[in-house]
Amino acid sequence: MSKVYVFDHPLIQHKVSMMRDKNTTTKDFRQLAQEVVTLMTFEATRDLPLKEVEIETPICKGKFNMLAGEDLAVVPILRAGLGFLDGFMSLVPNAKVGFIGLYRDPNTHQPVEYYCKLPDDIGKRKIFVVDPMLATGGSGAAAVQFIKDRGGKDISFMCLIAAPEGIEVMQKAHPDVDIYIAAKDDHLNEHAYIVPGLGDAGDRLYGTK
Ligand code: PRP
Ligand code: URA
Repeated sequence: MSKVYVFDHPLIQHKVSMMRDKNTTTKDFRQLAQEVVTLMTFEATRDLPLKEVEIETPICKGKFNMLAGEDLAVVPILRAGLGFLDGFMSLVPNAKVGFIGLYRDPNTHQPVEYYCKLPDDIGKRKIFVVDPMLATGGSGAAAVQFIKDRGGKDISFMCLIAAPEGIEVMQKAHPDVDIYIAAKDDHLNEHAYIVPGLGDAGDRLYGTK
């Protein structure tokens, strides 16, 4: 079974709480999303392997740790996942980027795919799928399946807020995919929104409602 990591770092908790506030403006929400994702990326990459390389400082030669060449890819789920891209790339600028376009049908709550473009060498990369919300888990699980169908193997999922229902769906569908979250909320309401959550992440990021 996959692992679920809930980041309890005070800065992450504080910023996510600010994002939940319905009075937080679109501009501040976007800025906070970027900051939280940067902090989460820092935590989620803590197990990347290192190797020793020889470097010459202005004083002498020595052996020092550097990343062991594990190539990363980040795949935001459009559209709200795009709000996660800059924060991730600020720490891992060499990551390749894929995109998956999905929206939830408002009546069935099932994910509908409208776009998928992944790096050609996705099978060789450690992949982070990013999306602010894991609600029913339908979108996240479908996105991971698209990536697997195109050769992706080493996949993690990173989101701000997850409902217990979404975590269960994701773990059942993809027991090999670790999940990184900033907060695990209570439940879903009758419209499959996370309670207490932060509302519609896409609308809050882009000011569409
Ligand atoms: C939101 C969110 C997730 C999905 C989560 O996207 O960004 O992708 O809902 O819900 P689920 O776990 O029940 O599938 P939405 O469908 O609102 O599309 P958007 O990003 O284009 O706003
Ligand atoms: N999508 C969102 O943006 N928010 C939720 O609470 C659930 C799905």
